Amino acid sequence: MKVIVLDNYDEVCKKAAEIIGDTVKNKRDAFLGLATGGSAEKVYDYLVEEYENGNLDFSLCSTINLDEYVSLPSSHPQSYRKYMDDRFFSRVNIDKNNTYVPVGVGNVKEEILKLKNLMEEKGGTDLQLLGVGSNGHIAFNEPGDKLNASISIVDLNEETIKANSRYFNSIDDVPRQAVSLGIGDILKSKKIILVAFGEGKKRAIEELLTNDYINTNIPCTLLKAHRDVTVIIDRCIAEGMNL
Ligand code: F6R
Repeated sequence: MKVIVLDNYDEVCKKAAEIIGDTVKNKRDAFLGLATGGSAEKVYDYLVEEYENGNLDFSLCSTINLDEYVSLPSSHPQSYRKYMDDRFFSRVNIDKNNTYVPVGVGNVKEEILKLKNLMEEKGGTDLQLLGVGSNGHIAFNEPGDKLNASISIVDLNEETIKANSRYFNSIDDVPRQAVSLGIGDILKSKKIILVAFGEGKKRAIEELLTNDYINTNIPCTLLKAHRDVTVIIDRCIAEGMNL
């Protein structure tokens, strides 16, 4: 596993955008796995900047997102479809028909099947961008004895609901379920980059980087089974860790 330690959140996001940009330059029709959340936000700003400078072309790319809340329509300010449209898809030259975000309303099971078929047809993404929950979740694969291999409806755990309540008016407004890609979907990606910053992610990153165990109660440790993972973190997380 490759580890890159940088000064701050900005640098972390810039580096991640650089790696995504290289993937797109090397393969014009790259299939990108994308993440939402606070950690990924600036990554999109940097990608948009590179696009505006004429250095990146997304016209032939396609994308799939890790997750979406069950019950939030795409128009909801906190839906991940809206997040992606506002921060990235509407700001670059990607064909929106080729951007797939799980759907959490309507016939959710049918929508899941469509994405399952897409993943099977494509055989995994060329690159997967990940954030990590303070409890170690990747996508919304929450700690537990069993983890889903492929896209499914999942229950969010209390720690995640609390963490994500910062984006909602009240904790009661946070959906209790999400549609999430599974661990198998993530591990099928050719290359994985995980970005994290700040004290809250220290425990999860420590479990990922400083021992040899795979533990389904810290789902990010499953990444140890992948051959091409780059973890990009800030100094705050790395401090005191024996890397
Ligand atoms: C988002 C996702 C989640 C987040 C994680 C960290 O699509 O799949 O796993 O990456 O919850 O969220 P932030 O970055 O907001 O701390």
